Amino acid sequence: MDIHPPRAVLFDAYGTLFDVYSVGLLAEQLFPGHGDKLAQLWRDKQIDYTRLLSMSGRYRPFWDVTRAGLRFAASKLALALDSGAEERLMNQYRHLSAYPENRDVLSELKRRGVPAGILSNGDPEMLAVAVKSAGLSDLLSPLLSVHGEQRYKPDPATYALGPAALGLPAREILFVSSNGWDAIGATWYGYTTLWVNRAGAPLEALGTEPTRTGSGLREVLDFFPS
Ligand code: LAC
Repeated sequence: MDIHPPRAVLFDAYGTLFDVYSVGLLAEQLFPGHGDKLAQLWRDKQIDYTRLLSMSGRYRPFWDVTRAGLRFAASKLALALDSGAEERLMNQYRHLSAYPENRDVLSELKRRGVPAGILSNGDPEMLAVAVKSAGLSDLLSPLLSVHGEQRYKPDPATYALGPAALGLPAREILFVSSNGWDAIGATWYGYTTLWVNRAGAPLEALGTEPTRTGSGLREVLDFFPS
């Protein structure tokens, strides 16, 4: 496919730079035999709630949505989530593990003179803490949050934040996400896109493909001459 060469990169945060399933380990300690399932359901419900609230014009910050998703997931699995366990899991979510290849890829982008930031559903405080605790503050700018729009991805108003902040048309920005739906939403908006399909998930069956599909973050570098 003929690719319009991008001049900057925007990363999705949760699932793409930060491992949302890294909470599974603590969840397993707290609820033996249910850690993975809790982490999975928690993530699914969190995203489900972003859509429910956004489409209904009832935006709430991602931190609150994340807590609501956890409560629902625990309840669905009939796990007794007391306030101590809830706080420990939420605190873990605040400091999610970053994928090990992040720093190398971001450093290399910097070396090649390519601006790299974030465009995420996360609220500004969550994003700032996650980026700082992963030690990536020097490599990611801007940190764009949907919070000011009071809507969630894939609402076009949220994807519009990228071109506005970077002063580039969407097709000259590479949008990178591990979430298939987010990669498709960004493609619809007009970005050049890379779907980092870490989980080997099937493509969303809606007749649109991301510009490229990869299996790790390093494939971002293939878009930029070295
Ligand atoms: C984000 C969610 C969608 O960071 O992962 O925007």
